Amino acid sequence: MNILGIETSCDETAAAVVQDGTRILSNVISSQIDLHRPYGGVVPELAARNHLQLIDAVITEALDKAKIPITDIDAIAATYGPGLASSLLIGLNAGKGLAFAAGKPFVAINHMEAHLYSPLLASATGVPPVAVPEGQAGRLSHFPMVSLIVSGGHTILVHATAIGHHEILGQTVDDAAGEAFDKVAKLLKLGYPGGPEVDRLAKAGNPRAIAFPRSMLDDPSYNFSFSGLKTAVLYWLRKHGVVAPVPGARDAAPAAGTAATTTRVEDVCASFQEAVVDVLVGKALRAAEQYRVRTVSASGGVSVNSRLREKLGAECDRRGLRLLLAPVNLCTDNAAMIAALAFHKPAGDFSLDVAPSVGLGVPG
Ligand code: KG4
Ligand code: ZN
Repeated sequence: MNILGIETSCDETAAAVVQDGTRILSNVISSQIDLHRPYGGVVPELAARNHLQLIDAVITEALDKAKIPITDIDAIAATYGPGLASSLLIGLNAGKGLAFAAGKPFVAINHMEAHLYSPLLASATGVPPVAVPEGQAGRLSHFPMVSLIVSGGHTILVHATAIGHHEILGQTVDDAAGEAFDKVAKLLKLGYPGGPEVDRLAKAGNPRAIAFPRSMLDDPSYNFSFSGLKTAVLYWLRKHGVVAPVPGARDAAPAAGTAATTTRVEDVCASFQEAVVDVLVGKALRAAEQYRVRTVSASGGVSVNSRLREKLGAECDRRGLRLLLAPVNLCTDNAAMIAALAFHKPAGDFSLDVAPSVGLGVPG
């Protein structure tokens, strides 16, 4: 069964063809990062207009690369939420229109649920996820698992017992993990999006240089909070200032009347990142223990983070747990995860509208 997936929930225009929910035949992603960079964040109007201009070409390229004409596609799937309303509308309507015109079933997909199961897609396609021992990549054997979904808009910890059967254990009560990375990068006057820049600079920094708070790490719930950490970084910078990373770039000056130190921006990045990673890994492993699962997985843009991957890997190894991580191009927004999940979902009717703030929910 060949499914065409379409994803336009934020600033990526993407289409992909996936066979039987596992085999990626094509995976086309057109990123709008350069378009939004001058504004330091996604501008919804620009995003929607760009999706509209590109959607046709991206879908055509996905079908061409898969060498499957639309007549041989068995179903068409598109993201209906969560995301930016004006961006979602473009992909959802393109998908519905195409399905209607071609007489194909249409499947609406929840973006966060697609992220949740994306590490399974990778393992089933023969791309071994990090730390999965040879011969253990059978898709169904991964359940039950505890899964972290960490993106620019969400931070969710889930206990999943099968595809479509998951319970939310906790989520952020304020900023998402990716949002914290992006905001701290802005404070440090780094580029957009901030997560990859902070990750890169942190590699040359000392994670123990500054003791930033591990908010809610000791809280018995599985909820997260990252806005206090972002504020702690802000206050630190106001008090101490940092030395700019690039020769010639202007240093962020400390506030008048405070003592300037020679804190390196690399140290701020590494210390902030370590605080985020400690909380994410700490809670995920506590949940793995409480729910007695043997598999832990992570997905979403922040799961690209090198320190998160490293620490999750080390801690899972120590406990004999299997860790599933999607390859980088399946962690950030893509349509392969949409087409893959659609294989497991019933076709819906054409009246379904976008749902910009739909949650991950507790499907039956
Ligand atoms: O899943 P995603 O592509 O889009 C959403 O659905 O939000 O996630 C984007 C987020 C951004 O906040 C970005 O800064 C973050 O993922 N991100 C990272 C890294 N790469 C992307 N955060 C930390 N380290 C990275 N290497
Ligand atoms: Zn996403």
